[in-house]
Amino acid sequence: MVYAKIINSSRAFSASRALSQKPYYVTSPIFYPNAAPHIGHLYTLVTADIFARQARLRRPETPAYFLAGTDEHGFKIQKAALARDLDPAAFCDELSAHFRKLAERTNTSHTRFVRTTEQDHQTAVEHVWRELDAKGLIYKGSHQGWYSISDECFYPESQVTRKKAPYTMGKQQSFVSIETGSAVEWMEEENYMFRLSAFQDSLLERYKSDPLSIYPPTQHADVIDMLSQPLEDLSISRPRARLHWGIPVPTDPTHTIYVWFDALTVYLTGAGFPGIKSQANPSQFGWPPDLQVIGKDILRFHAIYFPAMLQALGLPLPKQILSHAHWTVNRQKMSKSIGNVADPFKAMDELGVDLVRYYLARVGGRFKDDVGTLRDELLIFLLPPCGCTLTASAKVPALHEAVTSLQSLSQRVDENLQLLQVSDALDAIVQQLLMVNQMLTVTQPWSKETTSELTEQVYAVSIETLRICGLLLQPFIPSKSEELLDALAVPKNMRTWNQAQLGGGSVGDVQRGVRLFTLPSKSSPASGS
Ligand code: MSP
Repeated sequence: MVYAKIINSSRAFSASRALSQKPYYVTSPIFYPNAAPHIGHLYTLVTADIFARQARLRRPETPAYFLAGTDEHGFKIQKAALARDLDPAAFCDELSAHFRKLAERTNTSHTRFVRTTEQDHQTAVEHVWRELDAKGLIYKGSHQGWYSISDECFYPESQVTRKKAPYTMGKQQSFVSIETGSAVEWMEEENYMFRLSAFQDSLLERYKSDPLSIYPPTQHADVIDMLSQPLEDLSISRPRARLHWGIPVPTDPTHTIYVWFDALTVYLTGAGFPGIKSQANPSQFGWPPDLQVIGKDILRFHAIYFPAMLQALGLPLPKQILSHAHWTVNRQKMSKSIGNVADPFKAMDELGVDLVRYYLARVGGRFKDDVGTLRDELLIFLLPPCGCTLTASAKVPALHEAVTSLQSLSQRVDENLQLLQVSDALDAIVQQLLMVNQMLTVTQPWSKETTSELTEQVYAVSIETLRICGLLLQPFIPSKSEELLDALAVPKNMRTWNQAQLGGGSVGDVQRGVRLFTLPSKSSPASGS
C-alpha cells in the first residue's frame, strides 16, 4: 500500500526532475583496491552508467556527470599491501588500474575517476574536517568498540557474536559482525568524534517526508528504523601509530582521518568541492547528486553518515539512493575477502561486453549465482518465427497490439527508470521485441495469403520497433544498440530519448510506414484470407 502511494507520487517527482536545469550527477561507490574487481562491482558500475547514459539521452543539452573511483586509504589497504610486502601507494597504483580498466572495458561513461590518494581529494577532505571542526562538531574522546577491518567500521556490542572455530570443542573462538560475518577486534583508543547524534532528528524527518529518497522501500524503512534508535557519535580518526595509510587530521598529525569520512567526501571532490562553495551557482557542477548507486552493505554510510556531514556543511543532500542487493554464490555474498568471486573480465572475454551488461541489468533484481545462463536468455531474440498457421482474424489484432504497446513503450521505460526499476525498464523493451516477434508469426507477411498492404504495415511496424528499441537500449547495451541503429541508418543526431516515439525518426524508406498509424480497424478483414 505504501509503495502504491510512492508510485502515485512519482509522477510529480518525475516532473520536478524533468524540469530541473541542473546538470545530472550520478555516483558509483568508489572501490577498495585491495584485490581484483568482481561481478558485484561491475553491477554497481553498470547500473550507475545506465542512469548517466539515460540522462544524456533525455536532456542532450545538459551535461550528465558520473563519478567512479577507488577508495585507497585505511587499514584494509594497509594490511593488504603489507601482505604483499609492497608500499601501499605502489600497491594502490597497481590495483586501482584494474578498476579503471574495468570501467573502460565495460564502456562506462564516467566523467571522473577519482582516486582518494589524489591531491584535490585530500584538499576537499581537509576542508570538510576544518569546517566541521570550526562549527564545534568535532571533539576528542575516548572510544572503544568492536572494529572490523574488512568492513572498516565499528559495530555496537549488540551487533557482534562469538564464532567457535570448527573441531576445537569451542576452545578457539573469535568475534564476528552479525550483519556481515566479518571478524571484529576490540579497540580502545583516543579518537576524534563527529557529533552525528546532533543530526538524528533532522535526518529522520527528511526520510519520513521523502519516501522516494531511498529505493527499495524496504531499505528506506530500515534507515528509518536505524534513525529511530539512539544514534551514537561517530569515531572519525585513528591514532597515526596504528593507521599511517590515510590523510592526517589537519589539526593534529598524530591522527589519521577515518577511511569512510575520507571516502564519502569523494562525491564532493567529484563536484568540484571546495571550490563550488564560493561559486554563485554551485549546482552548475552537478551538486547535489541526483542518484547514488550503492550496494545494501554500505547503506548506513550513505543514508546516515554522509547526509549528516552534508547537513553539517550546509549543503543540499543527494536526491536519491538506489541500494541494490548482492550477487551471491551459494547464498553467500560474492566478496573479495571470501574469494568466491566471478571474474568480470573473463565473462566479457567469453560473452562480450554488452551481453554481460544486459545480463547484469536484466537479472539484477533476481540475482542468479553466475553468468552462465546469459546465453539462454538472449537466444530468445534469435528464435525464428515458428511458422505455425494462424487464423486470418488474429492478424490485424496482433498488429494493433504491437503498435499500441510501441506507442507507450518509451514512457513505460522512462517511468521504470524514474522508479529505479532497471530490470523492469529493460524487461519492457524485451517484451516489446517478443511481441513483435509474435506479430510476425501471426501475420506471416511472407505468406502469399497476406495482403500487400498488411505486409507493408507489418514490416514498417517491425522496423519502427527495432528503431525505437535500439534507441531505448542505448543506456543498457551501448555498442550493440549503436550497431543496430547504424544498420537502420538512423542519423547520429536522431538518437535521443525524444525520438523514441512512433514516427519520431526516419528510417530510410520505411518512413512510408507512417501510414501504419492509420491502421485498419481491429476487426477489419484487411488481413487477407
Ligand atoms: N570503498 C567502499 C565504498 C566507499 S563509497 C564512498 C566499498 N568498496 S567495495 O569495493 O567493498 O564495494 C564497492 C561496491 O561494490 C559497493 O556498492 C558494494 O555493495 C558493491 N559490491 C561488493 N560486493 C558485491 C556483491 N557481491 N554484489 C553486488 N554488489 C557488491 O564498500
